[in-house]
Amino acid sequence: MPNIIIDGKKFECRDGIPVLQAALEAGFEVPHYCYHPGLSVVASCRLCLMQTKMPNPRTKELEWSPKLLPSCQTPVKDGMEVRFDSEAVKSNAKHVMEYYLINHPLDCPVCDKAGECYLQDYTEEYGPSTSRMVEEKTKNPKKDIGSHTLLYQDRCVLCTRCVRFAQEVAGTGELAVVNRGNRGEIDVFPGQPLENPLQGNVVDLCPVGALLDKEFLFKQRVWMLKSTPSISPTDSRGNTVLIDHNDERIHRVRPRFNEKVNDWWISDENRFGWHYVHSADRLNLPMTRTNGHFSASRWEDAVNIVRTEISKAAAGNDGSAVAVVLSPMMSCEEAWLLATAVRQLAPKATLAIGWVPIEGQDQKFPKGFVIKAEKCPNRRGIETIMHALGGPGANFDEFLRGCDEGRFKFAFVSGGYPKVWLTSAAADRIGRVPTIVTHDLFASPLDAKAMLRLPSVTFAEREGSFMNCDDLIQPFERALRPLEGCKADGQFFYELAGKNGLFRAPRVREMMAQTLPQFANVFTPRPEPDYAH
Ligand code: SF4
Ligand code: FES
Repeated sequence: MPNIIIDGKKFECRDGIPVLQAALEAGFEVPHYCYHPGLSVVASCRLCLMQTKMPNPRTKELEWSPKLLPSCQTPVKDGMEVRFDSEAVKSNAKHVMEYYLINHPLDCPVCDKAGECYLQDYTEEYGPSTSRMVEEKTKNPKKDIGSHTLLYQDRCVLCTRCVRFAQEVAGTGELAVVNRGNRGEIDVFPGQPLENPLQGNVVDLCPVGALLDKEFLFKQRVWMLKSTPSISPTDSRGNTVLIDHNDERIHRVRPRFNEKVNDWWISDENRFGWHYVHSADRLNLPMTRTNGHFSASRWEDAVNIVRTEISKAAAGNDGSAVAVVLSPMMSCEEAWLLATAVRQLAPKATLAIGWVPIEGQDQKFPKGFVIKAEKCPNRRGIETIMHALGGPGANFDEFLRGCDEGRFKFAFVSGGYPKVWLTSAAADRIGRVPTIVTHDLFASPLDAKAMLRLPSVTFAEREGSFMNCDDLIQPFERALRPLEGCKADGQFFYELAGKNGLFRAPRVREMMAQTLPQFANVFTPRPEPDYAH
């Protein structure tokens, strides 16, 4: 690994990376717009320039170069010495910022990017406090460039990150720079709006407030938001995200860097697929059936009802008359607690994996991003737990056949999908089981047959881990409190398993690791430096 000296301090850095990357990883704040580690290097913004020590051709002595070099385009070399903390480098940044501000509008108070805008930050650090510009500023109208995205061209610094993303990562190339000089602007081709399935990433990439998400527009000031690390449940890839929320409501979902899975990107499905969390149709009370009608029940009673019904169904047999459907929307910890709780009472209970939604084919993009056809986050986790616990296991079709054959007297059916998932035909088949408990987000055709209906919670209201399609186990945190009237699924299963106290996913993983050693070391992506986005 090469050693380099930055501003007089020696650092070991990764081989082959640009000096800018090494400096950012070492914690230096180097202004930059066009550089992004996930995109090709164009060195066009001229903000990241540095001085290097080079041999003087006359004296052969090492001296600071009079000419500045782009640190984003200069690879690290062992023994290299560079500096950002010099008059020449700061003066360059100052002049470049003055140039960027020539036409930039003074609309920070109404700009969504305020608070996380690198033009604001660099202006504070390097920009002039007054403008020498006496001519009229170039004004450009706002452009509607796609169903999700607006372009405020006046604010653009022409870093071309968005253009390169559309070409290199999405592979669709809808964006281009048109015209030259101070008339240069970003545009889409006629009749070809920005509509690729990864397009939302251009909003994250834009270092200023030029590209904005229509859905987030004017909704929140970013300094009001709290960010919680989570994992998108919309497919099986395990793309890591940040949930930005305030007052128990999600306002946006952004990518969280992950060197093993999604790099810096997420799909639009990951980004916008959270609205069901705040659906008014969500279930929010446990309901028990008495005399053919549902009536509100208490969570305190629910644990006893489920345990009693399992014991009744298992009485006189080895427990094989009991089945539990473990949804691939559940976390590993929840599934393990539920399965072990049921097996304590019914040792030969069937563990069945819930319905695995598949839509079309995997979609692959040029730099390796994949949108999986499997639209659930934890099929592999559920399968791994079922395998580790042994005993009777089934897929969802086999479970339905078991219902047809009258093998079960009791079934606990968990759902948790973002929409109603059970068909009436499937509900009729499960309905042959005499005692049914459902655990779901929305009302379903199975409710008519259930003796107890429990509301479950969404990914944003739980903590735990998912195992992705490549067997990588990743933890995630809870962003929101469970919807009023609901109980965190993990807490309910914790109590069902006879444990006292609060459910905490890391503690449950420690218990799981005794038989499933892979849960002892779950993978957390390394934190990334700030890339001006
Ligand atoms: S719109 Fe944003 S990302 Fe695109 S070139 Fe302009 S400043 Fe860069
Ligand atoms: S020139 Fe280096 S980041 Fe733009």
